[in-house]
Amino acid sequence: MKKILNLAAFAALASHFAVAPAAAADTIQVFKFYCAQCHGLEGKGDGPNVTKDFPVSPRNFTDAKEMDKLSDADIKNVILDGGPAMSKSPMMPPWGKTLTAEQVDGLIMHLRQLCNCKGKQG
Ligand code: HEC
Repeated sequence: MKKILNLAAFAALASHFAVAPAAAADTIQVFKFYCAQCHGLEGKGDGPNVTKDFPVSPRNFTDAKEMDKLSDADIKNVILDGGPAMSKSPMMPPWGKTLTAEQVDGLIMHLRQLCNCKGKQG
């Protein structure tokens, strides 16, 4: 019985925290579902789909030096139209037909949090 009560308390606590950052939580789900298999759960470019046969490594989003070379518009182009939109590998798929504009904007913000960088301006 005690255990059940504790669980109930935990559930109440968890739902309490789940309320506020609804948009952010959605972005994390989108990232986990569509991006993490290649870019890794923490964005380090080490997802489970990546094998040594990949001709290029998925970008490590925590690499501020590399991520600073991209403007937000560059990131948006790559997400919408895939690697070749920015002369990168087609191993990075296009997501324009899969994700909504809001989801893409959320992902850009998420990548900026991971790199802790602002990126190229303009
Ligand atoms: C099938 C594996 C795969 C998936 C899934 C994937 N990517 Fe990529 N991504 C790559 C690879 C590989 C590259 C590197 C391409 C290159 O450097 O030529 C890349 C590059 C990128 C870049 C460009 C980085 C740069 O320096 O130009 C961005 C931004 C990016 N991915 C975002 C995402 C987002 C956001 C998602 C989820 C919606 C995602 N990727 C899903 C494989 C993937």
